[in-house]
Amino acid sequence: MKFSLNIDHVATLRNARGEAQPDPVTFALMAEQYGVDGIVVHLREDRRHINERDLRLLRELVTTKLDLEMAAVDEIIEIACDVKPELATIVPEKRLELTTEGGINVIDNIDHLRNAVKRLQSAGIIVSMFIEPDLNQIDASAEIGADFIEIHTGVYANSKNEEDMFDELERIRQAVRHAKKLGLGVNAGHGLNYSNLKEFIEIKDIDEVSIGQAIIARSIFVGVEEAVKEILKIINRNV
Ligand code: PXP
Repeated sequence: MKFSLNIDHVATLRNARGEAQPDPVTFALMAEQYGVDGIVVHLREDRRHINERDLRLLRELVTTKLDLEMAAVDEIIEIACDVKPELATIVPEKRLELTTEGGINVIDNIDHLRNAVKRLQSAGIIVSMFIEPDLNQIDASAEIGADFIEIHTGVYANSKNEEDMFDELERIRQAVRHAKKLGLGVNAGHGLNYSNLKEFIEIKDIDEVSIGQAIIARSIFVGVEEAVKEILKIINRNV
């Protein structure tokens, strides 16, 4: 299982004072040195955290893999086709949400999303759909030609008791199996942290987890190196 680091909230902290520090690009390059497999950023329409300068610098400097989370809107599709991240992950976006609140509804937006996938792929970008672990959404993602899905793990991460947690794990397990049968790559993320990741990694065949908030929060206390290496240890990677 690979592990990509979402650095959006380093930029949130920087933007709180409108100054230059902490710089998300520096954070990304440090994390690469400590073994992450990729860097994830969400260029939001409201530019709440990551901005275009960050994205373009990251494109020049990231040597692992750059994953751009993005809404399927013209402005951002054009930027993506120009910047050419290795992976574009299509997410829903509402202006007032605190964070991405759930998966995108592929079924209800099939023509629009098919077109977005085609435009991104024709720029050489691999495309992933951030969706709930729902078999119909997975079928729709395959139907529009997506290469990957990213399973929203927020429901798992927020489950109130063990029964709910194991139910959601089972739903995710079945979703992964279904997606793999259709030839899709499978990533997963949202709300994963140092404790709930331990159970989660037992699910087979997930290509990559994408984790942000927990690592950035922990890095304030223990530093970037330790925060990254603790995750790598959980996913059984020697560091
Ligand atoms: N994957 C997607 C699609 C996301 O939108 C986010 C949050 O930006 C993450 C993964 C990472 O979530 P977290 O910051 O809770 O680890």
